[in-house]
Amino acid sequence: MKILGIETSCDETGVSIVSGEKTPGGFSFETISAALASQAALHAEYGGVYPNLAKREHIKNLPLMLEEAMEGISPDTINAIAVTSGPGLEPALWTGITFAEKLAAQWRKPLYAINHMEGHLISSLAQSGKIHDVKLPVLALLISGGHTEFILMRDWFQYKIIGQTQDDAVGEAFDKVARMLILPYPGGPHISRMAELGRTERYELLEESLKTPPKGHATHPAFSLPRPMIHDANCNMSFSGLKTSVLYALRDRGGIQKISMEGRAAVAREFEDAVSDVLIAKSLRAIEQTGAQTMVLGGGVAANAHLRKVIAEAVAKEFPEVDFLLPDTSITGDNAIMIAQAALARALSGKIEAATEPITAKGNLSLSAAV
Ligand code: KG4
Ligand code: ZN
Repeated sequence: MKILGIETSCDETGVSIVSGEKTPGGFSFETISAALASQAALHAEYGGVYPNLAKREHIKNLPLMLEEAMEGISPDTINAIAVTSGPGLEPALWTGITFAEKLAAQWRKPLYAINHMEGHLISSLAQSGKIHDVKLPVLALLISGGHTEFILMRDWFQYKIIGQTQDDAVGEAFDKVARMLILPYPGGPHISRMAELGRTERYELLEESLKTPPKGHATHPAFSLPRPMIHDANCNMSFSGLKTSVLYALRDRGGIQKISMEGRAAVAREFEDAVSDVLIAKSLRAIEQTGAQTMVLGGGVAANAHLRKVIAEAVAKEFPEVDFLLPDTSITGDNAIMIAQAALARALSGKIEAATEPITAKGNLSLSAAV
């Protein structure tokens, strides 16, 4: 079965064709084509995603991405179209939905509405394109620019949120702290790199563009940040206070311009360590509470090398019987492959219905509503 996936929930325009089949232990996927246009550079100037600009770019890019994804492929070979209906930025979601509806009518194909977070989750379970003998229940820690949540999947496609951020998403905190450190948007990968240099003390590897010389006397501050909600007996999290603590710490030391490169790397490192400590503690608690047999990370922040390493190590040490799965970093960021894969997994299991009425964009769509 072949599905064409469309993703426009944030600042990536993705169109992808994936073929999939049911296997004795799960599913097997093959990406036929994957076209992706990132608007990150355009939004960088605003320090975040600007919805109307995102909408305009999606409208411009969708036909181009479709053309690229369909090169050499006949629409006759496509069985269905799948589009992200939420969560995300509504003006951005609508562009994908409208485009998908027209295409489905023109090609006379069934159209499926897919939850973006289910796309992150299902695609993260796939290792080298195969979802194989996954032990239930699955605990997914989905960490992205808009979400930070623990999802429990006791049965396939049955989701329950068992903990989530009470304020900012982890990716949002990474992006905001990066901004304070005068790093470009999206800041996650930059903080990660800077933290790594701090950890290994290889400051000479800092990119030239980031070596803004501090004005006046440079300080090398010792930083220690809080680990919010780490001792609370639940799986909820909070990252807004952590971000504010970075702001105050920088201010107390005379502002970012007064802080040396080594000092900035120390901030990045301590921030990443604080996030890691919280996510480790909450992951262990979530496994204990749910009896999960598999744990998987997903979402844009799941590309973070340090988080991947320390969460995997902690789970292996405390719960060696739990299968810990990490997604390939090529699919952690938003893309249309994950939308097609989620639609395929559902369609091949008979757990999906084609839209019979116009699809509505749902900015706050929750994964527990995807059942
Ligand atoms: O899933 P995603 O592509 O978009 C949303 O659905 O939000 O996630 C984007 C987020 C951004 O906040 C970005 O800074 C963050 O993922 N991110 C990272 C890394 N790579 C991307 N955060 C930390 N470390 C990284 N290596
Ligand atoms: Zn996402």
